[in-house]
Amino acid sequence: MSACVSVMCRCGLTVSPRILSVCVPVVSSLLFCTTNQASLTVSPSRSQMLEGESVSLSCEEDDSSAGWKLRRNTTRDTRTECDDWGESAGSSCNFSYIITLESGVYWCESREGATSNSINITVTGGSVILQSPVLPVMEGDDVTLHCKTKTSNLPAGFYKDGSLIRTEPAGHMTIHHVSESDEGLYKCHSSSHGESPSSWISVTGKPTTTAPPPGHEAPPPAREAPQLVFTLVRHLVVLCPYFISTLLMVSLYRHRHTGNDLPVSMATPPPTQAEQGLDDDYDDVIASVTTEHHF
Ligand SMILES: *[C@@H]1O[C@H](CO)[C@@H](O)[C@H](O)[C@H]1NC(C)=O
Ligand SMILES: *[C@@H]1O[C@H](CO)[C@@H](O)[C@H](O)[C@H]1NC(C)=O
Ligand SMILES: *[C@@H]1O[C@H](CO)[C@@H](O)[C@H](O)[C@H]1NC(C)=O
Repeated sequence: MSACVSVMCRCGLTVSPRILSVCVPVVSSLLFCTTNQASLTVSPSRSQMLEGESVSLSCEEDDSSAGWKLRRNTTRDTRTECDDWGESAGSSCNFSYIITLESGVYWCESREGATSNSINITVTGGSVILQSPVLPVMEGDDVTLHCKTKTSNLPAGFYKDGSLIRTEPAGHMTIHHVSESDEGLYKCHSSSHGESPSSWISVTGKPTTTAPPPGHEAPPPAREAPQLVFTLVRHLVVLCPYFISTLLMVSLYRHRHTGNDLPVSMATPPPTQAEQGLDDDYDDVIASVTTEHHF
């Protein structure tokens, strides 16, 4: 990644206008080189918090130079950065004492505007929370919900979309083999401590890497597209320095060869046998680069 960027810089700074006219479109198409990913994690790992808890949010990133920052939308303001409301350090952000007004949707955003997954956080002024998965649940997995106070589980009723689904004296319930029909808004109610806020639980389809069991329809291949893009980007990253330095070398050689008097700020050694060969391939290289460019 950094090799790629430094080749781009050399490319932009030291070559003549003619090379730039070839290089700039290539470089801009290869800005995909710097596209990367982050995922937001929260600790403690739940979407509901009690007022006064300390909470830590972190952007787990591939490349810290992309400048990932935590942002949030609340009922009061939108897209504000951690610096405005939390204790920020790099791409993480802490609350030492979270309050109800901090409820909202949180995500990481890079300087270029790429975004991570987002997490809904609800802070209650009451004493009961529902502990449910922060991230979408995979179809077929088991999910356990806890109804709890700061210190212990509470005997409680569990509700989905407003209707009681189960009463659990132990304060937790497990949904086995979740399916899309389990998606919904969950909460719990304790007769001694009151009600928790509601949290949305979403269910995502299984990846299609294994054959579906007989009698089941294959889930939609929703996860394949991002994987393809990732593979493509990875290949571009590998090819990027190769393309640019090949172009540079070939173009510089051409300048010398044709006695072109455009300023070139690099010392070029006399052409070798290999460069002669590359020169013949010049048009092929341009052609294949143009095809990549339309990616
Ligand atoms: C945050 O709010 C902005 C402005 O209302 C909206 O465009 C954006 O989609 C919201 N982001 C999330 C993650 O909900
Ligand atoms: C946030 O909290 C975590 C864990 O409690 C700690 O390791 C980290 O240094 C804290 N970061 C900031 C910016 O205070
Ligand atoms: C956040 O909550 C809203 C409203 O309950 C819901 O539509 C949305 O899917 C939730 N987002 C996540 C990431 O859970």
